[in-house]
Amino acid sequence: MSVTALGYLSLETSHMDDWISFGRDVLGLKVEQPEPDGRVRMRMDDRWARLILASGERENIVRYGWEVRDSAALNDLAGRLDQAKCQPIVGTADDRQRLQVEGLISCKDPAGNELEFFYGQRRICEPFYASPHVSAFKTGGLGLGHVVIEVEDIDKCLAFYTDILGFRISDQLARSLYFLRCNQRHHSIALASLNGKNRVLHIMLEVATLDDVGRVFDRSLDRQVRMSTLGVHSNDLVTSFYLETPSGYEIEFGWNGRLVDDASWVTTTIDRPSLWGHRELEQPARVHPRRFQQVASGP
Ligand code: FE2
Repeated sequence: MSVTALGYLSLETSHMDDWISFGRDVLGLKVEQPEPDGRVRMRMDDRWARLILASGERENIVRYGWEVRDSAALNDLAGRLDQAKCQPIVGTADDRQRLQVEGLISCKDPAGNELEFFYGQRRICEPFYASPHVSAFKTGGLGLGHVVIEVEDIDKCLAFYTDILGFRISDQLARSLYFLRCNQRHHSIALASLNGKNRVLHIMLEVATLDDVGRVFDRSLDRQVRMSTLGVHSNDLVTSFYLETPSGYEIEFGWNGRLVDDASWVTTTIDRPSLWGHRELEQPARVHPRRFQQVASGP
């Protein structure tokens, strides 16, 4: 297996100010000062960046940053991409500097998504604190979380992600949604075949505790962010809810996703995505503190 984790995502948006406050005040990400070129880094851990936002017209993930182990793994992958006629492009010194990585190649997947493969990303060695309301994100070797994308030709995409990039199918929902893993996280990407479009459906971020999920849930309610109810997924068993980003696609915010043991895992076909919950919440949801739940204000 050559891809080891979803390392970072580059996003483009015309709502940068909304994204900054959404990332910091709702999701609990650490939002750094803008780079000289205007990009904004959002951090979840000691890595230089997990979400990299640039101003632009596309409300979308514009590049997917997939991590590989080292330079040998990157060379190996470049060879396979070349052989499969995927035309990998070797990143320039400027590209590597822009992403703070040691090695970089890029290509497109069959749906036209721009993928970057890298190793040696800068790790910031000072203590990391996400925010006052999120204790920690679950990342490390599991990567930043997962993405769920809709693709026009699911068979072509499945072949690309499994045969060339080395992903394995953890399970599937009918023949319309495939969950693919590249490490112990149940899936780092899921490919959906719904309306024959190419688009991002959601990005999943995982946190260390259920309390972290609860606090972000409360903040989403307070700010009248469009969101779902809480729920538990039937395959990765994550407890989560969905909230709408300023770009229109969703973030899934969850806790306690299961880890897959490659030696014993058996692929199955699930018949529904959630054990319970994940229902649409009519907007705007109105909430009020129950009696005795208000913080005592003192004498
Ligand atoms: Fe998800």
